[in-house]
Amino acid sequence: VILDRQSRINSAELRARLNQLVNRFAPDSGETPGEEVIDFINQMQVYEGAMYELSTKLEILDSEFQVRFSHDPIHHMERRLKSVDSILEKLQRKGLPVSINSIRDNLFDVAGIRVICNYRDDVYSVSNYLSAQSDIQVLRVKDYIKNPKQNGYRSLHVIYAVPVFLSSGAHYTPVEVQFRTIAMDYWASLEHALRYKTDLEDDKYAEHAQTLLDCARSLQNVETQMQSIHRDINGAPQVAEP
Ligand code: GTP
Ligand code: MG
Repeated sequence: VILDRQSRINSAELRARLNQLVNRFAPDSGETPGEEVIDFINQMQVYEGAMYELSTKLEILDSEFQVRFSHDPIHHMERRLKSVDSILEKLQRKGLPVSINSIRDNLFDVAGIRVICNYRDDVYSVSNYLSAQSDIQVLRVKDYIKNPKQNGYRSLHVIYAVPVFLSSGAHYTPVEVQFRTIAMDYWASLEHALRYKTDLEDDKYAEHAQTLLDCARSLQNVETQMQSIHRDINGAPQVAEP
């Protein structure tokens, strides 16, 4: 199952929003926003293509495991393109120039896929098989499962460069993939909600953050025990022979 966090690029809607933003940021620049807006829409279409290509690769791996081992490594996937507003917010927060080149050079999560797996073994088998594919490149790996964050966050983040073939040739485009288990996803959703709850008193916030850290440890234990039952029943992690 793939959950799309928003529908496909609607270039009329995107153009309207971009023109609005351009007028807000540079009302007297005398420039006509036309060209940049078109470039941006074109660029977003490439990110969308990269995201679709990578999710298809993941679906193919998942169905191979289903057919060969009667095991579903992927519980479900979510994918999204960053909105224009969050792209701008991120560029500004990081003090980066606001331009298409700056997006290309600095933002690697414009296209994002979250792969929610049943077990930790699945996280590593799916990500390893994907990373080994010869037509894509691994740009960066952050393993917060081996090295969880201070707050208890766990997930494996990989940034891939995916070739998108347009009339002008191949455009290698980054896609951020977050691999995690159901338990890690369950935890991250609540932690995310807490983080964006701004009307909470400091004490209360700290108390919840501490409880969440305890929850992260408990979930990790539960996951380890359940993984071990699963291995016992189904054998060690399946490795596809060529
Ligand atoms: P930013 O994208 O600017 O955050 O920097 P980065 O690309 O170095 O970040 P990183 O790879 O560490 O994390 C990217 C994404 O992972 C975030 O946008 C979140 O979706 C997710 N993430 C990272 N840390 C946390 C966390 O502590 N809690 C939750 N809920 N999600 C996190
Ligand atoms: Mg990021």
